[in-house]
Amino acid sequence: MEQGPLIYEGKAKKVYGTSSPEHVIVEYKDDATAFNGQKRGVITGKGVVNNRMSNLFFRLLEAHGIETHFVEELSERRTLVRKVEIVPVEVVVRNLAAGSMAKRLGIPEGTPLGRPIVEFYYKNDELGDPLVSEEHVEALGWASRGEIDTIRRTALRVNQVLSEFLAAQNVRLVDFKLEFGRAPGGRLLLADEISPDTCRFWDLATGEKLDKDRFRRDLGGVEQAYEEMMRRVEGGLRR
Ligand code: C5P
Repeated sequence: MEQGPLIYEGKAKKVYGTSSPEHVIVEYKDDATAFNGQKRGVITGKGVVNNRMSNLFFRLLEAHGIETHFVEELSERRTLVRKVEIVPVEVVVRNLAAGSMAKRLGIPEGTPLGRPIVEFYYKNDELGDPLVSEEHVEALGWASRGEIDTIRRTALRVNQVLSEFLAAQNVRLVDFKLEFGRAPGGRLLLADEISPDTCRFWDLATGEKLDKDRFRRDLGGVEQAYEEMMRRVEGGLRR
């Protein structure tokens, strides 16, 4: 499929049109931002890891009956995906309190939760992606009641599949963010990416952080953490 013009450039990815109206090409960059763009940098090789890891996870999820936008990996950094209309809500699933939840509630990072929780954030850079309730999402028309139910169910299922897969690689899936999109006809697909940029991965034995928190918090060893996660995910899929 022919790569067409650039149609969107975000913080970590570019999106190009194709000769098909139903497909776009996503290109992953090495640019990294945190705290809503206030901190900027480059993580060398990140785009390659995030492209490959997202695609491996999407394939794993498809094998478990979860529909995603993934079509075909085209190169180290580029993937053909189904074109969707993104639901303007970031869906976060948490297994342990960390990050913004730990801060907001004044509880230590790593505090266990009685069950996985699903949160919704309104996708709006100017507002810093505020936390909203399901009722906001429904009342403001960002998603219908039925779509919200599907999103919740799918997000928890993704959590189950990925947590189990990662635990076998000695990784604790602490939390992660998903985005959903509507394909033509309205079918909801899992979209965007699933990578060390969008997940918290802690080594199961040592608690070492293997994700973007190393960049956000200036912990060093950022590239090495991304590479280590890639190695573990590929190792798990070779079994
Ligand atoms: O910052 P917070 O604790 O709310 O993040 C929860 C999870 O969602 C983390 O894994 C983080 O990497 C991810 N996230 C994201 N994009 C955002 C906000 C959070 O990928 N804009």
